[in-house]
Amino acid sequence: MEREKFGSRLGFILISAGCAIGLGNVWRFPYITGKYGGAAFVLIYLVFLLILGLPIMVAEFAVGRASQKSAALSFDVLEPKGTKWHLYKYGAIAGNYLLMMFYTTIAGWMILYFVKMAGGRFTGLNSEQVSGVFQDMLGEPLLMTAFMVLVVLLCFAVCSKGLQKGVEKITKGMMVCLLVLMIVLAVRSVLLPGGKEGLRFYLYPDFSKVAEAGIGEVVYAAMGQAFFTLSIGIGALAIFGSYIGPERALTGEAINICVLDTSVALMAGLIIFPACFAYQVQPDSGPSLIFITLPNVFNAMAGGRLWGTLFFLFMTFAALSTVIAVFENIISFTMDLKGCSRKKAVLTNLFGVLLLSMPCVLGYNILSFVTPLGEGSTILDLEDFIVSNNLLPLGSLVYLLFCTSKLGWGYDHFLKEANTGEGVRFPKGVAVYVKYILPLIILFIFVMGYYTKFFAA
Ligand code: ALA
Repeated sequence: MEREKFGSRLGFILISAGCAIGLGNVWRFPYITGKYGGAAFVLIYLVFLLILGLPIMVAEFAVGRASQKSAALSFDVLEPKGTKWHLYKYGAIAGNYLLMMFYTTIAGWMILYFVKMAGGRFTGLNSEQVSGVFQDMLGEPLLMTAFMVLVVLLCFAVCSKGLQKGVEKITKGMMVCLLVLMIVLAVRSVLLPGGKEGLRFYLYPDFSKVAEAGIGEVVYAAMGQAFFTLSIGIGALAIFGSYIGPERALTGEAINICVLDTSVALMAGLIIFPACFAYQVQPDSGPSLIFITLPNVFNAMAGGRLWGTLFFLFMTFAALSTVIAVFENIISFTMDLKGCSRKKAVLTNLFGVLLLSMPCVLGYNILSFVTPLGEGSTILDLEDFIVSNNLLPLGSLVYLLFCTSKLGWGYDHFLKEANTGEGVRFPKGVAVYVKYILPLIILFIFVMGYYTKFFAA
């Protein structure tokens, strides 16, 4: 059976960007930036996107395009005979499923908040009551399950329509709406009276704030954010390389995707920080930043119900575009491994993902006694830790070594694939960097991750 292909180059770029752009940009990036003091953190994060994220993204696309397979078979196709790189398929498969095990729940919260905002649920509430709405939601397993199921059903329905008619068509539309909506909201927020202080916090680097939080911790957080936001290391992007032809060189395409991803993250900051300062909301409120604080912000704004509804709508788009992209991976793994039809792969995975998403939902209520990472932690925290602190960095290391080592696919094959087609080429002078220095940086992140989590005071 011939492999499906994207209908257009724009489709490829927007779907890969859709896979990258998600909760990592609009939920995780603002709260981590708020936590680590604003602009100085943003600068460090941007450096990591360039020196770490970009080359690994090119490596993933190259493996995908050269093999014309998902991560379930790409290493089998390209590895030298007798080597064991193909065993990483299990890491990649586990990574995609694990990411979805908590992502579908948070995506469900987004839809629920969109519905609540549109229905005027927050109108007239004080900040304690707004916070109460969030806590009440966590205590309602049936409600959370219903919205998680809605996310899973919607996204599998899109994927079941096929690559071009489903994934490409829907995601392309959502991404264009998302980008337009974000620009409108950012302009609205920047012009708020009192918003200037927020802009200063966000755009004027103050390195004493980095020193306050601890340089090691800030650098680690910035590197982790770069992995998460680009979804690199679990083959989630590699698959989209397998759906394109040889027309364009891969570095140029990866730059486009990184620029789109970064623009959305930066714009999310432009929406959130001026609004926080204008309405006296602490920018370092943590993961609950958007759920507990932003409804207050919208409450205090003229036309806030409309702006809030639009905000949660774009959050939903961003989250769903990632879910659709990762589901496409999961479906493709099943098709590649079992040789079955798309329909059958959708059906099997539909039930599988629903089941796998339940522990995260129940972790906030029925299973709240399970605190796997210490007091107050949840099942979501454990799943996020396994993906973000383990599978993404280690998987990125596998892709990198596979593409640069003689024991793997090798640097010459990688360069040839990356540079096939028109556009920006992989720079010549970086061989030593990508072969030796970059793997060490990644190892460093990994070790630091464990140290920070379990041993640092
Ligand atoms: N890259 C995805 C996100 O940012 C996982 O949400």
